[in-house]
Amino acid sequence: MSKDQEYHALMSDPSDELDGHSLMVKLTWTSISHKMLVGLLTAETVALAIAVFALFGRAPQTTCTIPFNPERVLYSPALEAVEHEVKVYNVGFASDFSEFQIPSSPALDEMWSDLYNFGVSRITKKDAARLPNKTHAIPGDDGHYIAALDVFHNLHCLNKVRMALDPDYYPDWRISTTNNWIPSQKNATQHVSHCLSWLRQSIMCSSDTSVIVWQWDSTLNASVFKGNVAHTCRKFDKIQAWAKEHMLTKVYDPTIHIEDDIVVPIFYN
Ligand SMILES: *[C@@H]1O[C@H](CO)[C@@H](O)[C@H](O)[C@H]1NC(C)=O
Ligand SMILES: *[C@@H]1O[C@H](CO)[C@@H](O)[C@H](O)[C@H]1NC(C)=O
Ligand SMILES: *[C@@H]1O[C@H](CO)[C@@H](O)[C@H](O)[C@H]1NC(C)=O
Repeated sequence: MSKDQEYHALMSDPSDELDGHSLMVKLTWTSISHKMLVGLLTAETVALAIAVFALFGRAPQTTCTIPFNPERVLYSPALEAVEHEVKVYNVGFASDFSEFQIPSSPALDEMWSDLYNFGVSRITKKDAARLPNKTHAIPGDDGHYIAALDVFHNLHCLNKVRMALDPDYYPDWRISTTNNWIPSQKNATQHVSHCLSWLRQSIMCSSDTSVIVWQWDSTLNASVFKGNVAHTCRKFDKIQAWAKEHMLTKVYDPTIHIEDDIVVPIFYN
């Protein structure tokens, strides 16, 4: 955890170069092992070879396909806000509850809402052009595009699952009935099913490799599962601050179509 290393993308200016290279992003490595460094240098050499080929080997308009490189991540305008920290989760059983473990109430609803209710963002065209997927321009707001970070959709989804687990308090989210269609959420059964499926894929996508341990307990005379271990986390408050800074505050009219010249690259993996 000693040295900070910065990896700078080759050809990282997206305004004039919209092939695959523009999606190579700048990553700040808060801790880097020798093995990772060797991997990174190798990746850098490969990237340089590809860049040289891209520059001199063919016309720049040609679609560029780059090999998938796990040392890099797809571009997100919020990567500038990514910082890491070591955190120990609340175990969530008696004596180590989190502040979210209180009965359903307006106060709890507000705590959940405060996690994500600013999740729809307004980004520049330059940032929109670097996304791996095309997004739409904001009508009446020249040069700006609508976007949302998935972490906030995840939190929205987890909140809906939580509500479905307490149908006496949230009758609109009761899923053990076919009579639960309300305009604000359409079909709660389908919505909760979507959310569970989404959260499963998100958990698998991030595949947290932090290690849960067993430790000897001399009162029980047995080794027991210990959940209060260290995790490498992205600092949620930084991502939240990014989203609050970029929050889309104007009403977005989805019925107006705006054409643009943004072309997204094709990915192969
Ligand atoms: C987003 O990009 C991925 C990767 O190229 C592609 O598989 C997917 O269909 C795209 N989705 C949309 C909505 O553009
Ligand atoms: C909601 O969706 C479920 C699952 O698809 C279905 O069984 C149910 O009939 C639907 N309920 C309503 C009120 O449409
Ligand atoms: C644990 O083992 C010690 C030593 O063998 C013994 O004195 C003690 O009674 C045991 N405690 C329990 C809870 O079994």
